[in-house]
Amino acid sequence: MGLFSKIFSNTRKPEGFLGRMMVNGMNGGSHARMAEWGLSFVGIPKDANVLDVGCGGGANISRLLKRCPQGEVTGIDYSPVSVKKSREVNAAAIAAGCCKVVEGSAAALPFEDGSFDLVTAFETVYFWPSIEECFRGVRRTLKDGGRFAIVNEDDGLTGSNEKWEKIIEGMHTYTADELRELLAAAGFRDISVHNDAKHHWLCVTAVK
Ligand SMILES: C[S@@+](CC[C@H](N)C(=O)[O-])C[C@H]1O[C@@H](n2cnc3c(N)ncnc32)[C@H](O)[C@@H]1O
Repeated sequence: MGLFSKIFSNTRKPEGFLGRMMVNGMNGGSHARMAEWGLSFVGIPKDANVLDVGCGGGANISRLLKRCPQGEVTGIDYSPVSVKKSREVNAAAIAAGCCKVVEGSAAALPFEDGSFDLVTAFETVYFWPSIEECFRGVRRTLKDGGRFAIVNEDDGLTGSNEKWEKIIEGMHTYTADELRELLAAAGFRDISVHNDAKHHWLCVTAVK
């Protein structure tokens, strides 16, 4: 694996020193602006029970906690480096009992059926294996009428996605049409697509 691939494979699964650098980076910059943009399409009740899958450095857990001060936010990530950072960033909320961060995979969500009002996935579905199965798992953990929101920095239409897919093994950048089809196949309804044409950001929401 070349150095470039070694560095950027930490976006798929942060590990070691480079992974720690990567999760720090994920918590700022363009990720922050894009996450705020994506959340503008998702009304969150103040007492919502939210799951953030692929929570990375935990900045979006903090953002979600601000929007549901009477609710609860759980983060899950299969990278121990991400889990550690998310726990550090959200230590006060964890101590207060309104936040949990667990180590685990999007492919086997360790939560009971009908647990959440909202599941979010920022900059992470590119890396999920057997994605339709993962979407079925997300749907299972949602309450009836609960929503799933996917927010991606790349809408798969820039051409740069092909470059990144070569650099990062196992990455796939989905277009809005692909996500719409996969979500429908996994049983979601009322699928809405939002684009930011300037940045090529994509937000797709769907209802159980
Ligand atoms: C590019 S980072 C995005 C982190 C964060 N959501 C954000 O927007 O800043 C992708 C994260 O998804 C996690 N991830 C990728 N595939 C995963 C999977 N199958 N299950 C759980 N976490 C996953 C990675 O470990 C990494 O922390």
